[in-house]
Amino acid sequence: MTDIQQQIRTLAREKNAIIMAHFYQRPEVQEVADFIGDSLALAQQAANTDAKIIVLCGVHFMAETAKILCPDKLVLIPEPKAGCSLADSCQADDLRAWKEQHPDHYIVSYVNTSAAVKALTDVVVTSSNALKIVRTIPADKPVLFGPDHNLGAYISQQTGRELTLWNGACHVHSRFSAEALLALKREHPGAPVLAHPECKQIILNLSDVIGSTQALLSYVKNHPDMREFIIATESGVIHEMRKAVPEATFIPVPPEIPEGNTKDGLLPQGVGCMCNECEYMRMVTLDKLRDCLLHESPAVDVDPEIAKQAIIPIQRMLELS
Ligand code: 13P
Ligand code: SF4
Repeated sequence: MTDIQQQIRTLAREKNAIIMAHFYQRPEVQEVADFIGDSLALAQQAANTDAKIIVLCGVHFMAETAKILCPDKLVLIPEPKAGCSLADSCQADDLRAWKEQHPDHYIVSYVNTSAAVKALTDVVVTSSNALKIVRTIPADKPVLFGPDHNLGAYISQQTGRELTLWNGACHVHSRFSAEALLALKREHPGAPVLAHPECKQIILNLSDVIGSTQALLSYVKNHPDMREFIIATESGVIHEMRKAVPEATFIPVPPEIPEGNTKDGLLPQGVGCMCNECEYMRMVTLDKLRDCLLHESPAVDVDPEIAKQAIIPIQRMLELS
């Protein structure tokens, strides 16, 4: 452990804080976490922890979910500006307006949403449990699934059920290049393609395993004899995969080069990086984590009225998971 990592561990112990990290966090941040998981596991862990303080190394909606589940705990986020393009693609006012026009619909919201959107939701899902939960909804009930269009289309295809889909997407998962993936499959014919369901349909059609970050990691752990895997999700997850099977090679699928991009890697406005890293997730650094533990700030707060509504569909999800 480096000095700063040791400082972080000491502070966490002294303050009775649990450090939770998503699989997309920088490797050095994952290394100091007490718990690393996918969105569902982070929510479950938050709901069950005895720690006095929760430090959520992830994006804002993850910390908000932890705060809704643990209103009496101090929930810290090392970088409060770490947002999520997918959560941003569904604003509460737009969903409210939609609901008013379609009062009969059951609202299924992906966990990648703000607390205000969750407060308007009937049940929250993650990529781990969306299939299972959608199957519990009575067949005659019309369903709005949002905000991720790709995940919704995948769930609709798997369940054979018509869903009305919100037109949102994650900028990282929707930019993987199908052409590059086809080339990788030709170069590495024995390597299974592991994809997150937030990827576009064309990527999912070319994949062998589709699942949440935890499901993809479990696939690797269950196939320790394989030597190559092609990965179509945020590359942070490769850190745990490599630890599980150090002899294997993990090949990340590259993104499409946006039109107008130059050979020197100059990016068009609004595109944060040319790799498959989520720049929001990567905003959390060891320095920010140490400082946030030291100063017990920035804390995440959720309006109590919104939290009172938002906890209902989150708890429904936890019960159905
Ligand atoms: P998981 O639920 O698989 O952890 O995914 C979260 C996420 O943000 C994917 O982009
Ligand atoms: Fe949001 Fe996409 Fe980043 Fe996941 S990878 S946190 S969905 S922006």
